[in-house]
Amino acid sequence: MALRLGDEAPNFTAQTTEGPIDFHQWLGPGWGIFFSHPRDYTPVCTTELGTVAKIKNEFEKRNVKVIAISVDPMDSHHGWISDINETQQTKMNFPIIADPDRSVAGLYDMIHPKADDTATVRSVFIIGPDKKIKLTLTYPASTGRNFLELLRVIDSLQLTATYKVATPANWENGQDCIIVTAVKDADVPKLFPKGSRTVKPYLRYTPQPNQ
Ligand code: BEZ
Repeated sequence: MALRLGDEAPNFTAQTTEGPIDFHQWLGPGWGIFFSHPRDYTPVCTTELGTVAKIKNEFEKRNVKVIAISVDPMDSHHGWISDINETQQTKMNFPIIADPDRSVAGLYDMIHPKADDTATVRSVFIIGPDKKIKLTLTYPASTGRNFLELLRVIDSLQLTATYKVATPANWENGQDCIIVTAVKDADVPKLFPKGSRTVKPYLRYTPQPNQ
């Protein structure tokens, strides 16, 4: 069955380009982002991995570890990494899981047979410090993902895990947030000392509380 928000991210052991891992141990106490690539030596995947390598410090700042998976074997991954470094003007700096028997891809339902019965789709899982799945996303092989959007989601997830707020459409870090409807009006001044603005009883804004 497909993994859903709130499910525990299944644990596994695997070989990666940075050595063998036990996934939960590798994640440690922080956040993680786990994303799949249909195949090695494919153009869109090459740009995606190079893009993530270039902004890995942005994930680190947010205490998020990054790991990719492709169903190709390890020797293929190592050759491909040379190409990624060369063509994307970067240096790969996070592990790629080799999953030739597709056991991990199966565990995470990353193969959608009506799209392609051997390669994975472009799945993303954001995993919280409690090892629970906080976001799932599925893109087709033909569409590269927007990793700045994933950073934006992580900012929202980390904010809303701590404060009683939600983030509105197209929210960016630093912008006003929505006070969750469970907060009573009487509690707003105490919980949101920076102030609030009521548009409707169910639509109340406050400046981002952690800035
Ligand atoms: C790519 O990464 O370019 C790609 C992979 C599989 C199918 C189509 C495109």
